[in-house]
Amino acid sequence: MRHVLGAKQFTRPEVEALFETSRTFEEKVKGGQVLDRLRGRIMATVFFEPSTRTRLSFEAAMLRLGGQVISTENAAQFSSAIKGETLEDSIRVIGAYADVIVLRHHEEGAAARAAAVSSVPVINAGDGPGEHPTQALLDLYAIYREKGRVDGLRVAMVGDLAYGRTVHSLAYLLSLFRDIHIDFVSPPETPVPDRVLAYLAERGISWSRETDLARVAAQADVLYQTRIQKERFPSMEMYERAYGRYVLDPSLLGRMRADAVILHPLPRAGEIDPAVDADPRAAYFRQAAGGLYVRMALLCQCLEDAGQAYPEGSEALS
Ligand code: CP
Repeated sequence: MRHVLGAKQFTRPEVEALFETSRTFEEKVKGGQVLDRLRGRIMATVFFEPSTRTRLSFEAAMLRLGGQVISTENAAQFSSAIKGETLEDSIRVIGAYADVIVLRHHEEGAAARAAAVSSVPVINAGDGPGEHPTQALLDLYAIYREKGRVDGLRVAMVGDLAYGRTVHSLAYLLSLFRDIHIDFVSPPETPVPDRVLAYLAERGISWSRETDLARVAAQADVLYQTRIQKERFPSMEMYERAYGRYVLDPSLLGRMRADAVILHPLPRAGEIDPAVDADPRAAYFRQAAGGLYVRMALLCQCLEDAGQAYPEGSEALS
């Protein structure tokens, strides 16, 4: 796993091995162990778009593993991109300072462009409306944790399915599993892209496009709600037509199965009523917390593959 660019690069055994490592790290961190598997290694976080979870959980993951972090605050404004430096030149330079680069960029395909010139592993932390593979991995980790399995689940993906890059990556990962059905529920302004549907069809995954959220929610094992991505719309009129169409509130919650799970990559912007948060089915904050361990596992795997990590078993200091 030299670079992490998209969810389609993963096999099911790779995902399962990654989750095994994630679980181990979760136990160790929660047990108070201090780890040094990536001691002496440096991760650069280069974010051209805002982030709370992805950036801070990657940085926490590196620090939890004994490594160090360098970062440019708001790379679009405060890196030399503002002076006209190309992404490729920036990556060539940063690769001389760091052992791994975590990149978020507003352009689809930016992570692949970066990887093409990088001397160190590049991890895609979101490329415009393209993909967000590490978020999808932690989403899937949450499904495993909450449901105990992925095979056989009915998953509803709701909201901004066009610009919501986490949806694309999660759909690709779900296609690794058996007897999955995905219901896509979106306003007409933000349909799931044909390229995602074509990929699912190629892999024999059952899906449907739906408009009746109440009916879909009543059948869902997993309801994956997403934010309408205001910043990506071509016009405010179009955004306003899409916003607020599908909101998960206590009345909808009342129609859901007792063993359903509600996920959201976060941040939310009105599409889940905070009154839902206290319900045990609302798993989105547990989901975000698990991202730390998945990103620890990913960093170790990337750096191990690059010959830059201490072997397994050497990490415990206490
Ligand atoms: N889910 C996610 O990518 O959150 P941030 O934008 O806060 O990183």
